[in-house]
Amino acid sequence: MSKINRKICMAPMMDCTDRYDRYFLRLISKNIFLYSEMIATGAIINGDKKKVLNFDEFEKPVALQLGGSDKKELAECCKIVEDFGYDEINLNLGCPSKKVQKNKFGACLIKEPDLVADCLNAMVNSTNLPVTAKTRIGFDQVEDFDYLNNFIEKIKGTGVKTIILHARKAILKGLTPKENLKIPKLNYEMVYEIKKSNPEIEIIINGAITDTNQIRSHLNKVDGVMIGRAIYQSPYFLAEIEKDIFKNNNVPNREKIVEQLVEYVDREVKKGVRVNQIMRHTVGLYHGQRGAGKWKRYLSDNMMARDSDFQKVKHILEVVQNNEKAEMAI
Ligand SMILES: Cc1cc2nc3c(=O)[nH]c(=O)nc-3n(C[C@H](O)[C@H](O)[C@H](O)COP(=O)(O)O)c2cc1C
Repeated sequence: MSKINRKICMAPMMDCTDRYDRYFLRLISKNIFLYSEMIATGAIINGDKKKVLNFDEFEKPVALQLGGSDKKELAECCKIVEDFGYDEINLNLGCPSKKVQKNKFGACLIKEPDLVADCLNAMVNSTNLPVTAKTRIGFDQVEDFDYLNNFIEKIKGTGVKTIILHARKAILKGLTPKENLKIPKLNYEMVYEIKKSNPEIEIIINGAITDTNQIRSHLNKVDGVMIGRAIYQSPYFLAEIEKDIFKNNNVPNREKIVEQLVEYVDREVKKGVRVNQIMRHTVGLYHGQRGAGKWKRYLSDNMMARDSDFQKVKHILEVVQNNEKAEMAI
């Protein structure tokens, strides 16, 4: 198996990084490593596995993120996920939502290093895929290098070789998940220190990274950078990443992306997928460009309705290619 390139990763994001979003992002970026949204172990074990886990080969390489804290269930899910053809399995140790805490997974597990080690051990022993973890740098009053480093030591002991660190602690009580992405202060230094103390571990830094200068500067200190909102809200940022970071000079322009999207939508609609399931992820494609408002309006007028049909998507191509070219072209 070829080694995964995690230099730039798309963050796992609930309701965002589903298979349709990942396909769209892959049209722009060949080199980014993609993560699924978090999938709870119960959804895989008790749910419609194909519905939950199927994806298009074109999306690869792609990691599946699991949420759970029952080692047997996690191990069972790893086997299933491997059979579906994913490239990595990640354990979520960073989500602070109330629902997730109630089910005892996500960020509250930072408080239970032994349980985390048990879970990761069971996962590593049940699959040939790389198992990785995504966590925060602390919780509540605890933002302490020694605490975090001991937690990392525990994770390391399981054979996990890649850890994603969201450079903020999680406040487990009193903040909404959205506030938890903003209010706890960023502490990149703590992540750099962890890398210095654990040079053999691949450390991916995450949190509020929005441009290629920041990316380059982080890459001097750690092995990879994970980005969430900046890419989801402005997916064509990936084109800049391809050019600047991966030195790829063959990035398709937005028109080409739309052309390929239309072909994809055509294929998926025939399988029963709603246009909106795909196109909702593309709202930000023209972010920051003249004509961005028109693109958004066109999508909301024509594609957010449940009865959207493919003809309307075809028309969007005409809109981009002919009528609005001058305004919407890059
Ligand atoms: C809408 C949304 C959904 C998210 N869902 C997940 C998730 O399923 N799993 C996870 O580990 N983190 C999740 N996160 C956190 C992101 O992966 C990431 O750590 C966070 O947004 C910080 O990165 P950014 O500043 O680049 O967005 C989510 C964040 C947002 C905004």
